[in-house]
Amino acid sequence: MHIIHVVGARPNFMKVAPVLHALERKNVRQTLVHTGQHYDANMSDIFFQQLGIPAPDVNLAVGSGTHAQQTAEIMMRFEPVVLDRKPDIVLVYGDVNSTVAATLVCAKLGIRVGHVEAGLRSFDRSMPEEVNRLVTDALADILFTPSEDGDRNLAKEGVSKQKIHLVGNVMIDSLVRLLPEAQRHGRNGFPERYALVTLHRPSNVDNGEKLSGILQSLLDVSKDLTVLFPAHPRTRQRLEAFSLKTEQLRLLDPVPYVQFLGLQRNATVVITDSGGIQEETTYLRVPCLTLRENTERPVTVSLGTNILVGQDAAKLRSELSNILQGKAKQGFIPPLWDGRAAERIADVLVPGD
Ligand code: UD1
Repeated sequence: MHIIHVVGARPNFMKVAPVLHALERKNVRQTLVHTGQHYDANMSDIFFQQLGIPAPDVNLAVGSGTHAQQTAEIMMRFEPVVLDRKPDIVLVYGDVNSTVAATLVCAKLGIRVGHVEAGLRSFDRSMPEEVNRLVTDALADILFTPSEDGDRNLAKEGVSKQKIHLVGNVMIDSLVRLLPEAQRHGRNGFPERYALVTLHRPSNVDNGEKLSGILQSLLDVSKDLTVLFPAHPRTRQRLEAFSLKTEQLRLLDPVPYVQFLGLQRNATVVITDSGGIQEETTYLRVPCLTLRENTERPVTVSLGTNILVGQDAAKLRSELSNILQGKAKQGFIPPLWDGRAAERIADVLVPGD
């Protein structure tokens, strides 16, 4: 059996790592393709090193562009790789443009696709990731879901039960493995109490007025707590383009995986619009306030520590005040978020050994 893994953007890397390792233990022939969607060393290379991912066998080096450009470039550059290497199955991860592009190529070539992190839905098609999720799941042959809501969503869309495997959350596999190392990094010299902020959704950062409103809320937060804000390149560009002032905040470059895990683990609160961070904080039982109106990861709200605050500055303030008074939601770890999801994926792909 020959498996090609396709990754491209930062949140893919912590998902592919445990699957690569689990399949290695089964002696499966594997090829790793990096599309090059993320290319800065601090968005890509450092994650490969820390997560123990081998150097990619193929780098498509597509770089940035509009959605159509990026998706089309990946498709054009990935097709010959598939034709040449003739995999039995291609595994794609999450909901980024690399995920949907590789899936489309394989569907047209009749190559089986497995989607890791299938079934998540925000029901908000203005999010590019939602479109990527819908298309990928409609075309994939094997759907690995992280939680039961994923199974329910797929069933409602008419996906046959035989294709769906509830395996748990592979991102948590990486977290479980590297948490001891992250704890050694701890707060990295930052103060004992701080809010950790990440922000990169186009819906939050591409509009000057909206970004300025969020920044105002963060300046409010900074009156109570140090605000650590590792900024995504997109966000950094937008802050500069809109000439927004950030002096009261501790703006940082993107932080490597292990250090970021340490920062999350020790944060008083995490304020974010990321998907994965909602899950990581739930596992770590750290309060998370999400600057979105909806989430494709509802289990982090129903079971975990996540609260959706959207654009509501008053809600952000009142939830923050609860947290500072020690009244934060405690939460539970969702079923099968146990560090063994990748093993379950490997057992589905290569049963019986
Ligand atoms: C992508 C994913 C998003 C994911 C996020 C995590 C899609 C549709 N979006 O969004 O789901 O949450 O990654 O980071 O796939 N840039 C750099 N260096 C890099 C990468 C990007 O400077 O290494 C800059 C470029 O100016 C680029 C911009 O960031 O135009 C956005 O990058 P892009 O890959 O298009 O989308 P993300 O916002 O990173």
